[in-house]
Amino acid sequence: MLVTLQEIIGMADAGNYCIPAFNVYNTECLMGVLAAAEEEKAPVIIQLYPRLVKEEVGYYLSPAIVAGAHKASVPVCFHLDHGPTELEVTRALRWGATGIMLDGSAHSFEKNVEMTKHTVEVCSYVGVGVEGEIGHVGSVNDDVMGEMTTPEEAAEFVRQTGVTCLAVLVGNAHGHYKKPPCLDIDRIKAIREATGIPLVLHGGSGIPDDQVKAAINAGIRKMNIATDLCCVFAEGTKATLDDPKRSIAVDIFMKKPIEYVKALAVEKIRLAGASGKA
Ligand code: 13P
Repeated sequence: MLVTLQEIIGMADAGNYCIPAFNVYNTECLMGVLAAAEEEKAPVIIQLYPRLVKEEVGYYLSPAIVAGAHKASVPVCFHLDHGPTELEVTRALRWGATGIMLDGSAHSFEKNVEMTKHTVEVCSYVGVGVEGEIGHVGSVNDDVMGEMTTPEEAAEFVRQTGVTCLAVLVGNAHGHYKKPPCLDIDRIKAIREATGIPLVLHGGSGIPDDQVKAAINAGIRKMNIATDLCCVFAEGTKATLDDPKRSIAVDIFMKKPIEYVKALAVEKIRLAGASGKA
C-alpha cells in the first residue's frame, strides 16, 4: 500500500526501529526491493535521486513505483531524495511522490530555512511530509567533512520549518567509506532530544552494523542506501555475463541482478529492525 512519509516514519518512531530507504534507478532495482519487503513483511521507502526526476528516467519509473506500492501488501512510501529546487519537488509530487526531501544544506542557515519552510507549506497542500537537512552530508571523496550538526541549530531549524524528519551530519558521508566511519552516537541522541522528531541517516552503505544499531537506538528512523544497491546490481550483472549459458533475452538476463538487489534489501531491512513490522 502506498503511504506517506509521515505515516511510515510515524510507524518506525512508535516502534523504535528504522525504515530502510532504497534509491532505485530502474524497474529491476524496484522489483528487487519490493520482493524483499514482501518477504520480510517490512515497510520500506523507495526513493529517487533528483537527477532522475530532472531527466526522463523518472517520468517512466515513477508510475512503476506508484503501481508497485499500490500492489504491495506492505506500506511503501515513494520519496524524492535530495530535492534541490522547486522544479524537482513539484515534478515528483505530480508523479505521485508521497514524501519529499528538500535539501538546502549547502546554503546558509537562513536560506535553508526559507526553502524548506516553503516546501513544507506547498507539500502540506497535498498531505505530503518533508525531510530537511541541516549540516551538509557530503561525499566520501570530499577533502574535509563539513561541520557536524549541532542540537541547537537542528532544534531551531525544526522549529522554524516544521519538517517531518531531519537528515543530520554525524560522521556519515555518501559513497563507500575509505575507512569505517565513526558515528557520533551521543550527538544523535542530543539532536533527537533537542528536536523531538525522527532523524535520518544518509550514507548508509558501509556503516558497520553495530553503529547502525546504536544510531537507531539513539533516534535514527530512516536510513538511506544507494551505493551498496548499485554495487550488488553490477555484481548480479557480472555474474550473468560470466555464465556461458546465460540468455540474451533482457528480462531473463536481469533475473540475477534483481535477485542480488533483493538479497541486499533483505539484509538492510533486518539490520534496520523493520522485518515483520508491516
Ligand atoms: P550511500 O550511497 O552511501 O548508500 O548513501 C545514500 C544516500 O544517503 C542517499 O541520499
